[in-house]
Amino acid sequence: MSKRATKKPIAVDSSAEGDTQSPSPVKSGWAGYLRIEDVFLETADVKTIRLVPESGDGELPFTYLPGQFMNTAFWIGGARMIRSYSISSSPTHRDHLDLTVRREPRGAVSRHIVDLLKPGDYVETGGPVGTFTFTGKESESIVLISAGVGVTPMLSIARYLTETSWKGEIYFLFSCKFATDYMFAAELKRLEDGNPKLHLAVTVSRPEGSDWNGHRGRITPEFLTETVPDLVSRRVHICGPLAMMEGTESMLAELGLPKENVKTEKFGTPKPSPAAAGTTASTSSTPTGPKVTFSQSNKSSRIRLDLQQGDSPPEQTVLELSEELGVAIQFSCRVGTCGVCKVRMKSGEVKQAVKDSLTGEDQANGIILACQAKPQNDITVEA
Ligand SMILES: Cc1cc2nc3c(=O)[nH]c(=O)nc-3n(C[C@H](O)[C@H](O)[C@H](O)COP(=O)(O)OP(=O)(O)OC[C@H]3O[C@@H](n4cnc5c(N)ncnc54)[C@H](O)[C@@H]3O)c2cc1C
Ligand code: FES
Repeated sequence: MSKRATKKPIAVDSSAEGDTQSPSPVKSGWAGYLRIEDVFLETADVKTIRLVPESGDGELPFTYLPGQFMNTAFWIGGARMIRSYSISSSPTHRDHLDLTVRREPRGAVSRHIVDLLKPGDYVETGGPVGTFTFTGKESESIVLISAGVGVTPMLSIARYLTETSWKGEIYFLFSCKFATDYMFAAELKRLEDGNPKLHLAVTVSRPEGSDWNGHRGRITPEFLTETVPDLVSRRVHICGPLAMMEGTESMLAELGLPKENVKTEKFGTPKPSPAAAGTTASTSSTPTGPKVTFSQSNKSSRIRLDLQQGDSPPEQTVLELSEELGVAIQFSCRVGTCGVCKVRMKSGEVKQAVKDSLTGEDQANGIILACQAKPQNDITVEA
């Protein structure tokens, strides 16, 4: 592992859009292999992998916007697993991108990345993807609120805005559980010292036993209003654990911030992804819901309306049914963010609570998110 190098930034094409139109984002837009040039230890359980072109030299074969993510694919234990990781570097650096990954104690892919990957390894990746972006054109100031590893898209945005000498005020609010979880401390200090427009406020909720002498406690309305003047008039981006995001969103609503000024990115469910058929379904009863036909696999079954667990009980989603039937639909976040589970619906109707990763064109072409889709009548999907 080596010391992080700071290279001279170069111009970026900020009109670049992530391709979210194809059914499989790992295969859409740009897809291929990138080479790990370096690995940086950020905290005891967080590492950054620096990816460069497969040849090890030159510019990345795509551009991206600050705040976007990449989908990565790994073969682990004989199964292909796809996970999304936000880009933590600035697109001003065309020769590399950084992904910062927290090791989940029982996580399949994050443990693989943090424990095993080393310089010289290749990573199958696709993207860039996502609309949780900020380039400075969207508003005159920005409030970036994150907790834990949710800091990654915010860091990319703060680096980009600093390196492009953006004129607006940047309020960077970061919540950590322990003082030792404060990742990128030196980098954030460097950005703050070099950019008078960047205002950094870090709070630690469990500072006991450390020499932390900054803000203490979780994110509260007081912390928000004390650290961000005229908060209600600003645009806010939030990324972090689901509970923190929901809590912060309702605090902002109570403080009077219009909902349309708040953008969020969900990293996914904290629950384990069901690895095998039937893990989310109560298989004791006969399914009685609408019938789903998977046209490519030639399988069909009715939706269960009596799930005891899963992402959104009690109705099964198309993804959950596909897992029960052994129909291969790839997934990553299971919360509607990443777009990995996109499939084409040939007939029927579904309800989808979250459609963040569907473009207008997707919807016009009958693309649905299998992890969100709850059939309203009999449907046929291409899977
Ligand atoms: C748009 C987007 C951007 C993201 N960006 C980042 C990022 O920048 N950095 C980052 O680190 N992550 C990011 N994520 C999250 C990332 O994609 C993965 O979800 C995360 O790394 C966990 O994957 P995993 O395979 O290790 O865990 P999984 O194997 O999918 O497990 C999910 C969770 O369940 C727990 N678990 C697994 N098995 C069990 C069990 N038997 N009992 C109890 N608990 C269990 C795991 O500890 C883990 O917390 C992002 C997600 C999205 C959607
Ligand atoms: S798995 Fe991410 S959108 Fe469905």
